[in-house]
Parts: sequence; structure tokens; C-alpha cells
Amino acid sequence: MKRALQIFLIVMVVAFAATVGFGLREDSNDATVSQPASYPAEQVTRGAYLARAGDCMACHTARGQAAYAGGLALPTPFGKVITPNITPDAETGIGSWSADDFWRALHNGKSKDGSLLYPAFPYTNYTKVTRADADAMYAYFKTVPPVRRQNQAHQLRFPYNHRILLVGWRMLYFRPGVYQPRAAQSAEWNRGAYLVQGLGHCSACHSDRNALGAVSSKADLGGGLIPTMNWFAPSLTSDSETGLGTWAPQEIASLLKTGVSNRGTVFGPMAEVVAQSLQHLSDSDIDAMSGYLKASSAKVLTPDVEAALKLGAKLYQTHCAACHQTGGEGAPPIYPPLAGNRAITMPSAVNPIRMVLNGGFPPGTSANPRPYGMPPFGPALNDTEVAALVTYIRNSWGNQAGAVSAHEVNQFRGAPLD
Ligand code: HEC
Ligand code: HEC
Ligand code: HEC
Repeated sequence: MKRALQIFLIVMVVAFAATVGFGLREDSNDATVSQPASYPAEQVTRGAYLARAGDCMACHTARGQAAYAGGLALPTPFGKVITPNITPDAETGIGSWSADDFWRALHNGKSKDGSLLYPAFPYTNYTKVTRADADAMYAYFKTVPPVRRQNQAHQLRFPYNHRILLVGWRMLYFRPGVYQPRAAQSAEWNRGAYLVQGLGHCSACHSDRNALGAVSSKADLGGGLIPTMNWFAPSLTSDSETGLGTWAPQEIASLLKTGVSNRGTVFGPMAEVVAQSLQHLSDSDIDAMSGYLKASSAKVLTPDVEAALKLGAKLYQTHCAACHQTGGEGAPPIYPPLAGNRAITMPSAVNPIRMVLNGGFPPGTSANPRPYGMPPFGPALNDTEVAALVTYIRNSWGNQAGAVSAHEVNQFRGAPLD
């Protein structure tokens, strides 16, 4: 079935390419560009840092060979792709490339001569990189020692060895575009998103791929088997069962920066990502990435929810923190914790809504004859306030669950008590 779909798509794509006659070299750029002989040291340093963040080394350096001279064979379901030389050697590397050529490779997935590049080069992620960052990396690559090493031909099976297929592939799966910051989010969140989605190319491993090797946008960071590597890269969404939902941001940061954390250690391909790339990033970038991963989920806060969270936080301090504590940790077994308590984060919010409206007592049992109770807040708080509180406790201290509306609260105002 998968195979049939694959063949159908290939036929379609070839037919399309043939009828429309797309030129593969439509915008080759032979103009000689005058280039400054040297680049500001600050720009080169930043470029080196960004190349680390992009882990260019991982693919463009073969074991035991010169840095960035290429020659590493990357297995793909379609055959092997041999990485090119990106040292500044004029004949065999990218020494003759202009900053525009370099930008077009990262941003548009095209080589200097205009030919389309295979997405084994993760330009579907690198397209998010800004021009300034691409230029800094360009400046850095001008400073690495040039190595003379002729590029080798890929070892791809028919029909994948025809770059013309990429015309169709790109129409289906590639939209060039620099990362656009979200106005509703903090600068730190946006930095994290930029690094995770762009240079970090986390989705290259942490997403499912379809039969044509494309990361499906719906499965973004949803986890997936890495074809040909025989490793599973787990979901990085904030789902608490399959993703990082129950991890604290510091635990994610620790894993990314040091390779170990209270929740686990990295191994396999992720160990290489940490060793070659993430451990070299600044603490603020690591924190931005883990904060983004933690907060991202599919759900982006709407202004309504943001306002509810603010109101909820205030009401919580006034009415609840005395027993359940500021950090939601409670004082068990007398006052239950609200952080990490499944009673709060279940898909249905009925139970926490009713608890807040009506309060409650655990049963008096022979082992615990005089339990502490929780007072009712229904009389003191209106529906909007209760909704804000429940939304707040469902989304604080690592809890992640849907927001609650005043309308929902109202439905349970009159509900019989048992
Ligand atoms: C996951 C592996 C991988 C990573 C990571 C990677 N590349 Fe590549 N890159 C490739 C492959 C494979 C090709 C060849 C694609 C082709 O021939 O169609 C390539 C091609 C290129 C080219 C075009 C070279 C040419 O001669 O056409 C440039 C430039 C380049 N990469 C730069 C970079 C930079 C800069 C980084 C880091 C920000 C990077 N690459 C990270 C795999 C990778
Ligand atoms: C080359 C493939 C690859 C890339 C690129 C990659 N990862 Fe991973 N990652 C893995 C694999 C495989 C695992 C599972 C093994 C392990 O836990 O170390 C993993 C595990 C993880 C885990 C632990 C998850 C858990 O539940 O235990 C985190 C967190 C993580 N990666 C974050 C990232 C981030 C952030 C990026 C981008 C900066 C990234 N990864 C890029 C392959 C990759
Ligand atoms: C006087 C102490 C006290 C105050 C103030 C208080 N609670 Fe409670 N809360 C408790 C006790 C005790 C329980 C356990 C009641 C039970 O088991 O029936 C509880 C249970 C809960 C539960 C159910 C969780 C579970 O596992 O039993 C929720 C939800 C909850 N409280 C939310 C709140 C919110 C929101 C506020 C502020 C509006 C608040 N509480 C104020 C003492 C308090």
C-alpha cells in the first residue's frame, strides 16, 4: 500500500515535471560578487556558534576526516546520500560561493548552480534561519581550513537518483520562509522556537516521515522512528503521557546541556546531538529551547486564556495557597497537592470545578477519623472567577489541560451535591 502510494506519487510528480517543464537551473547565479576579504571577528564567532547549533559538523564530516570536508554516507530509505565538501576550497568546496549562494542553499535548498538539493540536507528546517545568521555562518565557513576533496556522487536508486523529482517533492512539502516571531509570545519563547524549528532541526528526527521521506507537519515533534537508523525519537510535545508534559523545564535543559537529567540520559543519535551541538550552546539558549518545548504543545494561548490565567493566579494566592501552597505542592496527606495531580488535569474538568464550588471532605475512616476539609467557594466567587481558577490550576506547575469557561462552571452551580 505504502509502496503503491509511493510509485503513484512518483509517476505523478514526473508527469507534472515533464509537462510543466520546470527548469532545475532556473536561477543559477553566475554573477561574480565582490566579497570582503575578511569578516569581523565578532561575526565569525557568532557564525561558529550558529554552525554548532545547526550541527553542520555531524553530517559534513566523515569519521576521522577533515572537518566539514564531507564524504559521509547518510543512509536513507532511497539509497545513500554522500555529503558534500563545505570547506572554502575554491574547486571542490564552497570557496567560490557568494553569501547569496550560501543563503540560497540554506533558505531555498538549491546549490550554487541552481540544482535542487535533497532534503537529507535539512533545509526544510534551515529555511527558518534569518539572513543575518546565514551570513554569520558564511563568514565562519570562510575561515575554516580549506580541504581539497572532490564530492562523490550519491548512491540513490532509480528513480530517486533524478533530482527532477524534487520539483514535485518541494511543491508538496517545502515552503521556504524565515521564522516569524509570534507577537503574543515572549522573546525567550520565540528564541526557543527559532532554534528548535530552525537550526536545531529537531523535527528531522523527532517526527514521523511519510513514504517520500517528508516530515508531516501535523506530526511535528510528535515522535517517530528514524528510518534507517533503527532508533525511535520520542515525542517532544507537552503531552503528559507520550511527551515531555511531566518534565520540569530544568530537567529538559539539563538533558540537552549535559546529556543527563533526573528523568533519564541520552543515548544513540541523541548522544551525538548533545555532544556535538547542544552542550556548546549558551545557558540562555538552552533555557529558551526547553521553555519552548515545555510550553509549545499544539495549544497556543489565546488572549482570553492568558487573561484567565492572570486572574486565576491572583485568586489562587488569595483563596487557595494557604492550604495547597504557592507551588501547588499542598501538604499531603492533609491538603492534597494540585501539581501533578491527575484529578485536576483529566480531560473533563467537572471534578475540579465541583470541588471549588462545593468544597469537600474526604471520608472519615477508622485510620483517619477526622479528615481536614475544603470550604466551598461557590458562594464567594462568580462563574468567571471559578473558571479562571480552575484554568489556572490545570495549567500551572507542569499541569497541562484544557481551559474552562464560565459557561461550563455555571452548569454545575446547581448540581446536586452527591
Ligand atoms: C542531517 C545531515 C546534514 C546536516 C545536519 C547539514 N547538512 Fe548540509 N547537506 C547535507 C546533504 C546530504 C547535502 C547534499 C544534498 C544534495 O546533494 O542534494 C548537503 C548540502 C549542503 C550544501 C550544498 C553544497 C553543494 O555543494 O551543493 C551546503 C552549503 C550545506 N549543506 C551547508 C550546511 C550547513 C551550513 C549546515 C549547518 C547549518 C549543514 N549543511 C548541515 C546534509 C546535512
Ligand atoms: C539525529 C536525530 C536526532 C536529532 C537531530 C535530535 N534528536 Fe532528540 N532524540 C533522538 C533519539 C533517537 C532519542 C531517543 C534516545 C534518547 O532518549 O536519548 C532522542 C531523545 C531526546 C529527548 C529525551 C526524550 C525522552 O522522553 O526521554 C529529548 C528531550 C530530545 N531528544 C530533545 C531534542 C531536541 C530539543 C532536539 C533539537 C535541538 C533534538 N532532540 C534533536 C534523536 C534526535
Ligand atoms: C482550608 C484549606 C483549603 C483551602 C483554602 C482550599 N482547599 Fe482545596 N482542598 C483542601 C482539602 C482538605 C482537600 C481534600 C478534600 C477531599 O478529599 O474531599 C482539597 C481538595 C481540592 C481539590 C481536589 C483535589 C484532590 O485530589 O482531592 C481541588 C481541585 C482543590 N482542592 C482546589 C482548591 C482551590 C482552587 C482552592 C482555592 C479556591 C482551594 N482548593 C482551597 C483544602 C483546602
